This record gives sequence, structure tokens and C-alpha cells, in this order.
Amino acid sequence: MPEDKPVYLVLSALPYANGVKHIGNLVGSLLPADVYARFLRLQGADVIYVCGTDEHGTTIEVAALKAGVPVQAFADKYHAKQKEIYGKWGLSFDYFGRTSSGENHATTQEIFKAIYDKGYVIEKEMQTPYCLFDKRFLPDRYIEGTCPHCGFEGARGDQCEKCGKVLDPIDLKKPHCNVCGKSEIEFRKTKHLFLQLQKLSGQLKTWITEQEQWPQNARNFALQWIAQGLHERCITRDLSWGVKVPMPGYEDKVFYVWFDAPIGYVSFTKEWARTKGDSALWEHYWKNRDCKIVNVLGKDNLAFHTVIWPSMLMASGYADLPSQVKSLEFLNLEGKKFSTSRNWGINSDEALEWFPADYWRYYLCSILPEQGDADFSLHELMQKSNKDLADAVGNLVHRCLSFTHMNFEGKVPAPGELQPADNDFWRAVKKQVASSEESFYAYRWQEALREAMQIAHESNKYFNDGEPWKKVKEGEEGKRKAATTVFMTLQAVRSLAVVLQPFIPSSSQKIFDYLKLGSIEGSSWNSAAEQKLPAGHEIAPMAEIKPLFTKVDPAQLAKVKAILEARLKPDALGKPPAKA
Ligand code: MF3
Ligand code: ZN
Repeated sequence: MPEDKPVYLVLSALPYANGVKHIGNLVGSLLPADVYARFLRLQGADVIYVCGTDEHGTTIEVAALKAGVPVQAFADKYHAKQKEIYGKWGLSFDYFGRTSSGENHATTQEIFKAIYDKGYVIEKEMQTPYCLFDKRFLPDRYIEGTCPHCGFEGARGDQCEKCGKVLDPIDLKKPHCNVCGKSEIEFRKTKHLFLQLQKLSGQLKTWITEQEQWPQNARNFALQWIAQGLHERCITRDLSWGVKVPMPGYEDKVFYVWFDAPIGYVSFTKEWARTKGDSALWEHYWKNRDCKIVNVLGKDNLAFHTVIWPSMLMASGYADLPSQVKSLEFLNLEGKKFSTSRNWGINSDEALEWFPADYWRYYLCSILPEQGDADFSLHELMQKSNKDLADAVGNLVHRCLSFTHMNFEGKVPAPGELQPADNDFWRAVKKQVASSEESFYAYRWQEALREAMQIAHESNKYFNDGEPWKKVKEGEEGKRKAATTVFMTLQAVRSLAVVLQPFIPSSSQKIFDYLKLGSIEGSSWNSAAEQKLPAGHEIAPMAEIKPLFTKVDPAQLAKVKAILEARLKPDALGKPPAKA
């Protein structure tokens, strides 16, 4: 691999294998990470995009229990299902692994031993809920009760979903077992292992303070938490599904899911390296000062990615720390929070039955929740698909290519002498290519899309102002002018396809097909600032050039809206649902 290429490892938070994810999960990590990885590939970077399913923990166990399926089979099913769905969304993982893999078990134990040997782990006794009926311990989601802070009745042992407070099971009022539903619970003393975060507090603070490239919300969050004082955190659980703890006396325990899940990032890179026939290749990303490790995640995962996972890396010295923690805010749906318990959301599989992936990708990226929470609205999805995709991009491509067929035998015409308006236009295209790139590197991806899209608007205006349909009828001189307009617009259409490729990859590929340019993945971002189509280059036959986007019509939209509202349950969190 040439030494001078920038090196990147793009990681999106690992979705739990507890079902099919809704589009809020996609917009919060998977999709933006994909967009960035695609951009970096066009930049010619040495980049891999790694992800996979998070398969341990009580989230999965309780879901499997409720579905009446053994947890392994349950995880198998949703790993496969999610992988298939993400393929349809155009998510371009270089590797999509599973935290239940042998490699992740081995790497987790290895990292644990390194942390332990360096003196960052202590053993302590702890009061843990135990169900006398089921004869088992009840960690995290296995116990539910009333929240001592807000009175919500479905609070879990580790957290209240309603007020968001982190809980200790012993604080729950009227606790009951989530397996049998009974309240025959007693607290028993058992020993557990704790990661001594407080010992790393100084080192963490220094490191985070230096991370000026992090978004404000990530940096502030972490620094505030450290300022309040870090405490040791329990990293083991009384469960059997998970990674075994390599210590005598811990035969009946496993690591807490949040201990082995981020280690998945490393394990999956190792597994990827093995598929490349070079098992040491993972170190090129994880033990390489020149590699930028970019984590993309929702704000609910900030604590783990800014403090806990970095502290595990620091304590173990096993691999490099992340360079970027790009955190996304939440997506609301028609003004209401996504909620699994209330059945309010759009699942990632059903979404694609309603509209093609690029429509979703475009709209979701156009409202990417970077600065604050974003509101998804079906009406806006329709408007943006119709105005931006169908009108601005689709029509431009179709008009310009069919004009090329009607007047220039389906070949890129040779331009006449360039006039100031032509030069101004190309300067504007180049400027947009540059500013979109700049926004990408500044981690403002919603803006990068807006900048890219501007090329479509500029091109439409330029083509309209040039009036080539009139010019072709005005003799030799006019025909030359029309040829110039078409030549320049075709170049811009190619540029547009390139800069939109991270966002709407399959539509961009179609444009390349229409222009007979082969695979767009073989092109480069920089080529978007150049006029790459030579005069005489033949484009695809007219019969192959189909409209890129069909308009979303209001009736179709109303159907989708009705489906969503019909299944909305009364508010499981206690309030009646607000009117949409
Ligand atoms: N599964 C977690 C969630 O959905 C995210 C895990 S990210 C990782 O909230 F860093 F642990 F991998
Ligand atoms: Zn029970």
C-alpha cells in the first residue's frame, strides 16, 4: 500500500441484534458513517468501514425470551436480517461482524487481562437481585419496577427509560422479575469486577482536552463527566450468554455487554484482515499513528465512546485511541419521539418497500441531526424527493442527455469558444466541489450535501440561460453556442454524479451508466473539478436513459401515513399520544 495515502478506519456504533432497527438508528450512525467512508474512498484514502451486530447483553436476552427463541438462534436471525437490509440501503461495509464471534471472545479476554495486569481492575462484593422462583440473578433488564425519581412503572434495573436516570436495581420500588413476573426477589451478595475509571481521570482529561476536532457536544459531555468525578464501574454480570471472564471464581459470570461490544471494533478489523490474507493488517489501522479512527454514533452512546472505551484502550495499551467521535442527535418522527414500546417509528425494512433507498438516504442526510434533534416528516420527504431529486437532478440529466441525442447524435459535442458565462459556470462548479469537500472534512455532512446539490441548481440555471434549444436553430454560430452549453452541462452532470455518490450511490451510478463511464467507484472526487468527458464521447442509447427518479405522489404518502398512525399505541410512558 503506498505510504502517502491518508489512512482511515470508519466505525459506526454496533446495532443490537434485538430486532430490525428503525430509521432513527440508521440516521444516528450507520448511514452517516457510510456517507463518510464513501467520500473518503473517492478521496483515494486507504479506508475501511467496519461494523457489525452487538449480540450480548440483556437487551438481546430479554427480547429472545419474549420471542420464545433461544438467544443464539435469535441473534443469528437478526444478524442475518440486519445485514441483508443494510445491503439494500447501500451501506458499504468492508466488514460486518458479530460480537459473539470467537475472535471477539478471545480479544475481549486478552484486553481484559492487559487491563487487569496493569492494575485497573478490582474485585468487590455487591448486592445483586436474585429471583427465588427462577433461581437466577436478575441483572439490568431482567428486573423492572417503579422509578424512584419519576414514578415510571416500567423502569429497568440499569436505567429508567422515561426520565433517563441511571439506576441501581436496589433503588427500584416494587421490583419484579422480567422472566416470571413475580416479586419473589431477594438481594444476594456476589463478587464482581470493576474497572477503576477514576485512576485514569487525569490522563483522560488531558487527552480529551486536546481533541479539538471533536464536536462540542461530545467534548463538553466528557469533560463535564470527568469534572463530576469518575467512579469504578462494574464490568461483569451474572449471566451465561456473553464472553466468559478468565478468572477463577467467575465461571458463572460473563463480561457486561458494554465491555465486549466496543472491542468488536478491533475484533472485526482482525477478522477483515484475515479475509485479506494478512492477519497483521489490522494493526495498520489500530496501531498506526497516521491512521484516523473515526467513530460515528448517536448521542446516547457518548459516555461509552468518549470515556469508557477510551479508558479501556488507555488502561490496556492494546490499540490506538479514536481520533474522532462524531455524535449525532436524535431523529423525531412527525414531531414525536421514536418509540418501540408505542410502536411509533419506521423500520429499516419497511421503509424500502415504500420508497427506494436513495430517496431515504437523500432526505435523511438533508436533515442529518448534527446540530440538534431533527424532525422527520413524510410530507417533507415527498417535497424534497420531488423538488431536489426528481426536478433538480433527474430533469437536468434527462434534458441534457436527450438533447445530446436529438441534436448531437448521442455524442458529447465539441465546444465552441468559451464565453465569460461558460467560464463563470465552470468556476461555480469547481467552487461547489471544493466547498463540499471542505464541509466533509469539517464533519458537517448535511452541509456537504447542500454544497454538492448546488451544482444541480447552477447547472439547471446555466442550461436554461443558454437556451440551446433555440440556439440550434440559429445557424452555425448558434449551433456552436448550443454545443458549448451542452458540452459544459454534460461535464457538470458528471461532476454532480461524483459529489452526490456518497449520498445517493445507486443514482450516481446510473448517471455514470448513462454517460457510459463505467463504475463510479473507480472515479475520484478530484475529477469532479475537471472536464473529463472528451468531445466525441458516446453516451448510452436513448432507450436506456430512463428518468432517475419518479415523483412521490400525495396518495402514496397518505397510505404510508395511515399505516403508521393505525399502529400507534397509547403512550406506554403514561401520556396520551399527541395528535399528529
Ligand atoms: N448496541 C449499542 C446501542 O445500540 C451500541 C454499541 S456501540 C459499541 O446502543 F461501541 F459498543 F460497539
Ligand atoms: Zn423470576
